[in-house]
Amino acid sequence: MQVTITINGTEQRHDVEDRTLLVHLLREDCGLTGTNTGCDTSSCGACTVLLDGESVKSCTVLAAQADGHEITTVEGLDSGDGLHPVQRAFQERHGLQCGFCTPGMVLASVSLLRENPAPTEHEAREGLAGNLCRCTGYQNIVESVLAASRAEGAR
Ligand code: FES
Ligand code: FES
Repeated sequence: MQVTITINGTEQRHDVEDRTLLVHLLREDCGLTGTNTGCDTSSCGACTVLLDGESVKSCTVLAAQADGHEITTVEGLDSGDGLHPVQRAFQERHGLQCGFCTPGMVLASVSLLRENPAPTEHEAREGLAGNLCRCTGYQNIVESVLAASRAEGAR
């Protein structure tokens, strides 16, 4: 089947199988390898992207379900003038170690801050509960989210 999806601001058409997962379309057909696959079973959040602005785990979404929708991956966060404020906060607060979970963490954080622009630490932890960091750097990740919430343009 053919799907039409706006990916990082550009409308694209792709031929996909009915069973093609969105994460595989993004990585293999679009070359957007910032979207990682960790578990493939909706547990880790490494594959998190924004679908119409809401964070979703792209290993649980069929490419066909994204037909007619907008997807933002980590590559699409940079609006052309450098890092997104959430990415900058992760950089400045050492919110990453190996970086594997980072794209998913950043996109989940962007979605979290859109819904709750000034989260408490508890709310930030709850908001990221679906994203796992195998380096276990949660303290700095949460500090990054809180720092981003204070930064202009983070939402
Ligand atoms: Fe999608 Fe782990 S790869 S949640
Ligand atoms: Fe290594 Fe999170 S920084 S998995």
